[in-house]
Order: sequence, then C-alpha cells, then structure tokens
Amino acid sequence: MSGEGVPPTVNRCRVCDGEVQECLDFGRQPVSSAFVDPDGGGAEVFYRLAVGFCTTCTLVQQLEEVPRDAMFRVDYPYRSSESALMRKHFEQTARHLLESELTGPDPFVVEVGSNDGIMLQTVADAGIRHLGVDPSRDAAETARDKGIQVQVEFFEEASARRIRAAHGPADVIFSANTISHIAYIDSIFRGVDALLAPTGIFVFEDRYLADIIEHNYFDQIYDEHFYLFSIHSVHSMAERFGFELVDAERLTVHGGAVRFTVARTGARRPSAAVAELLAREQELGLGEAVTYERFASHILRTRDELTALLRDLRSKGHRIVAYGATAKSATVANFCDIGPDLVDAVYDSTPEKQGRLTPGSHIPVRPPQEFAAPYPDYALLFAWNHAEEIMAKERGFREHGGRWIMYVPDVHIV
Ligand code: SAM
Ligand code: TMP
Ligand code: ZN
Repeated sequence: MSGEGVPPTVNRCRVCDGEVQECLDFGRQPVSSAFVDPDGGGAEVFYRLAVGFCTTCTLVQQLEEVPRDAMFRVDYPYRSSESALMRKHFEQTARHLLESELTGPDPFVVEVGSNDGIMLQTVADAGIRHLGVDPSRDAAETARDKGIQVQVEFFEEASARRIRAAHGPADVIFSANTISHIAYIDSIFRGVDALLAPTGIFVFEDRYLADIIEHNYFDQIYDEHFYLFSIHSVHSMAERFGFELVDAERLTVHGGAVRFTVARTGARRPSAAVAELLAREQELGLGEAVTYERFASHILRTRDELTALLRDLRSKGHRIVAYGATAKSATVANFCDIGPDLVDAVYDSTPEKQGRLTPGSHIPVRPPQEFAAPYPDYALLFAWNHAEEIMAKERGFREHGGRWIMYVPDVHIV
C-alpha cells in the first residue's frame, strides 16, 4: 500500500483528464492470466499494480497500463463456461435482451468480449443475427464450434466502423466483464457511436466498486480490471462521450456487479434506479482519499492474517492446497507471497490452465479429479465467487475432515 510520507503519483484521468490520486499499490505483479510452462519458455512480464481515483469524476483506474497484447493473447486461458452459475446468468441475460430489445425486424446484436460464446449461444439458438468480437482466438474457436459468429479482433473505433459497414447498425451492443478491461475507453465509445442504431442500447456488466470496497474484495484488483466502475463514474463517463446512463441494475455475480445500460443522449428516459443508486453512492465517499485509506488498512490486515495462518498451519505439518486458478488469485498470491512452499497445488477445471504454473507465484495447476487423491487438510478458496458451486461439487472434502480457508471479507476457516 502507498507508503506514508510518499507524495502520491500524479496522473491524468483516462476519461476527463482530471488529476488521478494514487491510493492503492500492490507492487510488482505478473500478467494475471499468463500461466507459465513448467519446462521454462519466455520470460514473465511484470508491472506495478497501482490504483488511483480521479479527483474530478471519481473514476477509479490503474496508473500503469499493461499492453493489451500481453493480456489477451491467442491462448488467453479464461473460459467463461466453466461455471454453471455464469452459464445460467448469461442464458437469462440473453433471454432478457431477446424479449425486451431484439423484437423488431431482423435485429442485430454485437457482443464485445464474447469469449467461448457463453451469452451468444442463446442468441444464436434463437436464430438472431449476432456477432461476437474477441481477440482471444482459442476462446473464439470454441464459440465458433458451437455455431456462433465471432470476429477475432479487439473492439475499438476502427473495428466497430468495419462491422457497421459490413452488417449495418446494432440494436444492442452487449459486453460483460470486458469494458472495465479496456484502458482506451474513448475509442470504445467512438466505436459504439459508429455502430449503435439511433435508439439502440449499449449494455455492459462489470464489477461494482462499492461492493469491492465494502466486502474487501481486494483481489478484484488485477491487470485486466483497469477501471473499477461506480454508478457515478459511469454516469459522468457516458455524458462525456455523448451518451446517457439510462439504467443501472445491481447483480450478485462475481461478488457484486452492475449492469449499466447506456443510450444516445435523449433517446431513452433514464430509470428511477439510476437516480436512486447515485443518491446512495453519495454516502459512500467513493471520491474521497479516506475511503481508500481505510480499504488499504483492511487489505494489509488481511494479508498479514492470511500469511500468518498459512505459515502456522504449514509449520504444524498440515497440507494446504488452493482451489480455482483465478485471475484474481494472481493478486493474492503475489501480494501475500504465497508460493509452492505454502500451497502444494491449485486445482482448476480449465484444461487450458492445467499442467502449467500460476503467474509469478509458480504453483502447479492440477485438474480437480486429483483433489481427492488424497484430500489435503486445508484448501484456500481462490474462486470464492463460485463457493457454493465448488463446495457442493467437493462435498467429500469436508466429509473427510478438510477445511476451506477464506480470506474475504476477512480471513476465516469453514
Ligand atoms: N464476457 C465473458 C464473461 O463475462 O465471462 C468473458 C470475460 S473475459 C474476463 C474478457 C474477454 O474480453 C476476453 O475473452 C478478452 O479476450 C476480451 N477482450 C479484451 N479486450 C477486448 C476488446 N477490446 N474487444 C473485444 N474483446 C476484448
Ligand atoms: P473466475 O472467478 O474468474 O470466474 O474464475 C474461476 C476459476 O475457477 C476458473 O479458472 C475456473 C475455476 N473453477 C473450477 O475449477 N471449478 C468450478 O466448479 C468453477 C465454478 C470454477
Ligand atoms: Zn476523471
């Protein structure tokens, strides 16, 4: 965390050019999805993971930008469909869009960051014209194998213009857990402007800053989450780019998110929820340094308690593993210095991650089928947002006396 007496780094806001005040510093971190081959290979890329808030528009943003090609490569290993909860969530999301927005003649929907097709599957099955845009080729191939149309490239102004020329205007541009990943947000909004139909909507879901601070979800801060959005910051961002925030819906997925709906200024009447959530945020101090100072103390306390617990259990001869080689666990493992000396392995259902080592911390990733062979004494749950699903799948672990170690909102054992 920012050292006392050190003057904060002054940076400019990527949206309004206001002064960004640094408030959290996690030090040297690897690219969170860059799993390492055990037999060596290319050098790992590290950067400084530091976050600040804009003193003008409150937007929380990172101070160092990891090049997009270092994060979203052809072999980007994240697969959205590994979670049954998320499959259900996106099926419902797609149905909602089909029923509320895609009812006119020959509607067209574009998804930014379509990954393995988790959302577009339902749209494609309904026979609706669609296009996924995602630079991660291997994930896009998985979507194509399911009959989904995907263009392998980054969405930005130029690609949006090409899509518009080839397919016409989009009634809905949808995106989940991707817009907050894109530092060049001005280009995104220019792209939306070029592609969106006059009365169309741009809907995006991303983690919610207020939930992150309230529940100490500090591991939601990693390279890919360049922005941490609030209703206030998105409201002002939309306005700056010639749009209007017309709806905001809180979601429980990933520990707390918001589905933002943006339209061209004046095209739609904003819902009451926008004003209500804006008013609620007034009390949260999301644009004040003291809020982040408290958050930073909570994070440091969690780090100290977690490492003390793991060292203590290890010194008593207990075997500890982890579960879920999540991108967010890169922050936990590297910030808390958790490596293979404390945690033997991390179990994960994603074939693209298995057999490799976690970024920076170099913990071997193993398939869940090996979790029980034999069960460890403790399992650190890195995928806490999938706790219900994973604990139900791994019921046998607790039945054999195993215990889960949780670290958010505070360190505890269940
Ligand atoms: N939408 C899925 C979900 O919610 O589970 C996938 C989210 S995943 C964390 C982010 C995805 O966005 C990756 O597949 C990545 O390749 C893609 N992505 C990153 N930058 C992008 C851009 N500029 N345009 C389109 N996709 C992008
Ligand atoms: P996420 O929290 O970013 O969605 O990542 C979840 C990770 O956890 C992903 O690598 C897949 C893995 N996982 C399992 O290993 N088993 C499961 O049952 C679920 C839901 C996820
Ligand atoms: Zn700003």
